[in-house]
This record gives sequence, structure tokens and C-alpha cells, in this order.
Amino acid sequence: MSVAAEIEKADMAAAEAFAENVGGILNSGAVAVMMSIGHRLGLFDLLAEMPPSTSAAIAGRAQLSERYIREWLAVMVMGGIVRYDPADNSYRFPPEHAACLTRGAPLGNLAVYAQPVALMGQIQERLLACFETGQGLAYGDFPCFHEFMEEDSGQTVVAQLFDSVLPLVDGIVERLEAGIDVLDAGCGRGLALIEMARRFPASRFLGYDLCADAIEFANRKVQEEGLANIRFEKRDLTGYHEKARFDFITSFDAVHDQKDPQALIRGLHGALRPGGVYLMQDIGGSAKLENNADFPMAAMLYAVSCAHCTPVSLGQGGLGLGTMWGWETAEGMLKEAGFSSVERNVLPHDPMNVWFVSRV
Ligand SMILES: C[S@@+](CC[C@H](N)C(=O)[O-])C[C@H]1O[C@@H](n2cnc3c(N)ncnc32)[C@H](O)[C@@H]1O
Repeated sequence: MSVAAEIEKADMAAAEAFAENVGGILNSGAVAVMMSIGHRLGLFDLLAEMPPSTSAAIAGRAQLSERYIREWLAVMVMGGIVRYDPADNSYRFPPEHAACLTRGAPLGNLAVYAQPVALMGQIQERLLACFETGQGLAYGDFPCFHEFMEEDSGQTVVAQLFDSVLPLVDGIVERLEAGIDVLDAGCGRGLALIEMARRFPASRFLGYDLCADAIEFANRKVQEEGLANIRFEKRDLTGYHEKARFDFITSFDAVHDQKDPQALIRGLHGALRPGGVYLMQDIGGSAKLENNADFPMAAMLYAVSCAHCTPVSLGQGGLGLGTMWGWETAEGMLKEAGFSSVERNVLPHDPMNVWFVSRV
């Protein structure tokens, strides 16, 4: 039967409801891209500080073009993010909205995550080619990727590092205070490691990452701060092998997009001294699609996977497990690597991430 004939038989009320749904998806996608622009220009932070104001006043404070600001505000009003009063042409950003869309917001800044939505549009042409060839992409294909990851790390890892994350590893704070050797594998710009180096001056910290630009950024920051107990090295962790060199190894969202995650985890196990601990944070979705319907922002995570995590692994000649490789896969790999114990933790208020504590 032809497609047209199939559609003729369809329940048209259900079809119309679905079309409305699709309209909502298109609207939300467009608002998300504009949200990314608002975040990068600091507009949400500015609006949060201002009383109800006209587009001219907002543009004046932002030192940006009024015409563009007015059009952007229209998107924000239609998206339900900013309120508009036609009586005096003023725009108001409710504090309840600022609570999740500004830098340092108490609920985390969700505008940060509008950036990958915009980024997906930027690499669409390259991605179209990947679908045809099955080949991957390089980190350099993604403009501002490490900048975005640094912001994500600030909220996902650093904000809860000392109060919630390190306490998951029994005894580690005392050992860090006494002085141990720490590696962060796939450190990116190294925000979390730098925080630890500041807090624990008796310990020694090393960060490895594939990307020279991220490593240069991290080393510049270390120099500016004059920290003597931390350094960053550009290193491809493919085939990673070091023998009993560290007491504590961390990786933050850096395993699933490796060329060969299992080989890396095995390598990290071998790089730990007796008594050593590996703390691995990754995305906490399930390996099974059918289990992820209620997982927070699952569609977005699969999209990020399709557009970034899968192609960067494939681009290294890797497995391309994707963002939603699943906690089951991660747990299986940790056990296979030979750790004597593997604990899985999910922090309250952060259902998106899983934190594995694995001991040698
Ligand atoms: C999603 S980012 C996380 C970065 C950082 N841990 C953070 O939380 O901001 C994944 C990191 O893994 C690094 N990476 C990917 N493949 C790698 C490899 N083969 N060797 C070393 N690093 C790699 C990337 O350069 C990237 O910085």
C-alpha cells in the first residue's frame, strides 16, 4: 500500500494532535537556539538585574544593537521566558525564571545547555556527511566545545565537589589532605582538578587530555594562579599504560566518548597503586532505550550523542558507544577491568549523572 493510502486510513484527530506536538517541538528548538545567544551575550544576567525596561534601555545597558535585542526579546516573550507589558513597551524577567537561567543560579543555569543545541546546527553539514560515510568528527570540528564543557563542569562537578562528590569516596579527603598523587583522565580545561589542587596543597595533581587548546588553557590558569602542585599534559589516552603511579584517579564525563573505553578503564586500573581509588562520573542513562523514556532530557542527550559523543569516538577509529552507553555498560567495564569493588551512586538533585567509586 502506498504512503498516501496508509495516511488516508490514519486517525486524523491523532494526526492533528501529533502535528501540534511537532509545532511545539519546533518552537522549543528555536527558543533554545536563541537562549544560547542570550546566555553567551550575558542577556539573562543583565535582565535579572534590571527593573521592567524597554528594548532600548536593555540594549543600552548591554551595549548591543536595539533592533536585534527587540527581536530576541520577542522570541523570549513568545517562549514564556520574558514578560511583556504593551502599556509601556517594557520587558520583565521574573526572578523565578532567573533562578534557572542566570550564571550562579540556585537551580543551576539551564541556559548553559542551550549551547549544544545551537552547536548542533553549526555542524549540521559535517554531520550530514557522517551519516553517509559512517565516519566521525574531531574535537576541533566543534567550536567552543571546551568552553561549554568548562561551564558544565562548574555546575555538574565543581559546585558539588567538596560537599557531595568527594564524600562518596570514603577516606579520600583525609588522604588528599595528607598528600597523594591524583590523575584526572580526559580533564578538558581542568576546572575540577584545579579546584582540588587549591584545596589540597599537599597533594600532587596531573591532568591528561587529547586536546591541546584545552590543556593550554588549563596550564595558563595554573600559571596565573601560581599553583605549584598541579600540571596538565596533552596526551592521547588511547592505549594508556602507566604502572602504579597514582593513588586517586578521576574522570568526569570523559570515558564514553573515548576510542576504547574498556581499554582506558583497564589502563586506569593498572595506573593505580595498591589502595587506589577510581572515581568516574558519567551520564547515568540506561543502555536500553526503552528504560530512558523518563530519564531527564533524554532526547537532548541522545541528540548530543548523535552529533558529538558518537562521532568524536568514531573519529578516533573508536567504538562510538555514545552518551547513553548506559550505566550497565560502564559498571560491566569497571568490573571487567579488575577492580575489587565497584559502587554506583546517584546524587540527590542530580539524576542525570552516575558516580562510580571503584577500588583496586
Ligand atoms: C565531555 S569532555 C569532558 C572534559 C572534562 N572532564 C570536563 O568535565 O569538563 C571529554 C574529554 O575527553 C577528552 N578525550 C576524548 N578522547 C580522548 C583521548 N583519546 N585521550 C585523551 N583525552 C580524550 C576530550 O578531549 C574531552 O576534553
